[in-house]
Amino acid sequence: MASLLATKPLDAILCELEERGEHSLKRALGPIHLVSLGIGAIIGAGIFVLTGTAAAKYAGPAIVLSFVLAGAACAFAGLCYAEFASLIPIAGSAYTYGYATLGEIFAWIIGWDLILEYAFGAATVASGWSGYVLSFLQDFGVRIPPQFASARGELLVNYNNHWERFARVKDALAAQGINPDSLPHMTAYFNLLAFLAILAVTAVLVIGIKESADLNAAIVMVKVSVVLVFIAVAGAYFFRHPAVFSAHWHPFIPPNDGTYGHYGWSGIARGAAVIFFAYIGFDAVSTAAQEARDPRKDMPFGILGSLAVCTILYILVSGLLTGVVPYTSLNVSDPVAVGIDATGVRWGSFLVKVGAIFGLATVMLVMLLGQSRVFFSMSRDGLLPEWASKIHSRFRTPYISTILVGVCVAVFAALVPIDILGELVSIGTLLAFVIVCAGVWILRVRRPDMPRPFKTPWVPVVPIFGILVCAYLMASLPRDTWLRLLIWLVIGMLVYFGYGRRHSHVQKLVSAPAPVAQTRS
Ligand code: ALA
Repeated sequence: MASLLATKPLDAILCELEERGEHSLKRALGPIHLVSLGIGAIIGAGIFVLTGTAAAKYAGPAIVLSFVLAGAACAFAGLCYAEFASLIPIAGSAYTYGYATLGEIFAWIIGWDLILEYAFGAATVASGWSGYVLSFLQDFGVRIPPQFASARGELLVNYNNHWERFARVKDALAAQGINPDSLPHMTAYFNLLAFLAILAVTAVLVIGIKESADLNAAIVMVKVSVVLVFIAVAGAYFFRHPAVFSAHWHPFIPPNDGTYGHYGWSGIARGAAVIFFAYIGFDAVSTAAQEARDPRKDMPFGILGSLAVCTILYILVSGLLTGVVPYTSLNVSDPVAVGIDATGVRWGSFLVKVGAIFGLATVMLVMLLGQSRVFFSMSRDGLLPEWASKIHSRFRTPYISTILVGVCVAVFAALVPIDILGELVSIGTLLAFVIVCAGVWILRVRRPDMPRPFKTPWVPVVPIFGILVCAYLMASLPRDTWLRLLIWLVIGMLVYFGYGRRHSHVQKLVSAPAPVAQTRS
């Protein structure tokens, strides 16, 4: 049992930081790159799609409070990530923090769990991205066979002269009393758009971290501009038509209809659990720690800066959106476009679609970046095969794990209908946040002496609140999601005992005659 809880010595971890040369990752990222990576990963399907669903089905105008609640969970976790990322600036992120504090088995659980966040997250976003591209092209009369724009087996219907995924429009059809069988429909074969998007992003990631970060920063400027335009247009509308807003904002918290999660306070909590997805990604900044020029200083800035910017944008967007149109009309695939349309700005929905298409592309990029870096670190520790940490001598990227992750995610996004996976991504991320918050507290107790470039304030209050709020959000997710998480973790345990444990470098140290690794008794 003790060997399962063997921790990786901090000194050994910190030695990895000194590595230089063609077999190490390239240190090319400054503070602006890091904040951009965070914003690149955060603003995506969550704000462009889920906000509307969550407002319409769960929270009403009080979706703003859901954003505050989820933002608070992320702020607590973000402060803990910032301490770890400046103290242990290693590509493995939460996986490495777990290894240093809680022991190998927990590290493995986090590493395996992060696949839910990064790989499944990228696949989920690729699917949403293809829907936006399909709709955008159809607006201009460009038809691509819809069978190749959705995952295998997904039902598509032709609604308003657009091919849409049935799962997306079924509520709208029901609300209008339209029988779906009366519409042209077909079943998809392969999501070619998602497949190609993931492969394109993978190619950029292989070519170089600087190139990837520059492209990300450029696209982030486009998507943040689009969000700011929405805020400006809806804000101007507010000053011209305050009565419209006050009518739509009243009642601000619609009364609960008797079912947990359907409006009222429980609806705010359920809404927060759903739109938590919108915040996912700030932690991915920490996986770029070994590629940052000055990680000890810039990591906290990248993590907390991107989180702060996005939280403010989200609160403004969700507040204005539910003021411009009644929340009941927001259960659509493009709620932000619906909102800007309602202000009478003709080019608004075009702009929002462009923003979403660009915005979702960078989410895929940073998620895939994070996944390959976590695998890189796990492989360095022997928990995954050695080739996963092989660095390309010219590009200085972990090219084999990047390509392998890219191809697997591309195939997955193309074949598997992934609507349900959004919640799995959220629960996996929340679990990682809980463990990181606990880790900060534990390391403060065990190694109070370590010089910490950034210190989480009010320890243990902040980590405890982080654990409680994240656990509360996890508890607000459906039981099926928990079941899927458990199944995923059981599969992970089989892989760990089948491979990881037998090849782990730390286990070899633990079983060596003169133990160097620290073990907990
Ligand atoms: N936060 C990311 C998004 O909303 C995952 O797409």
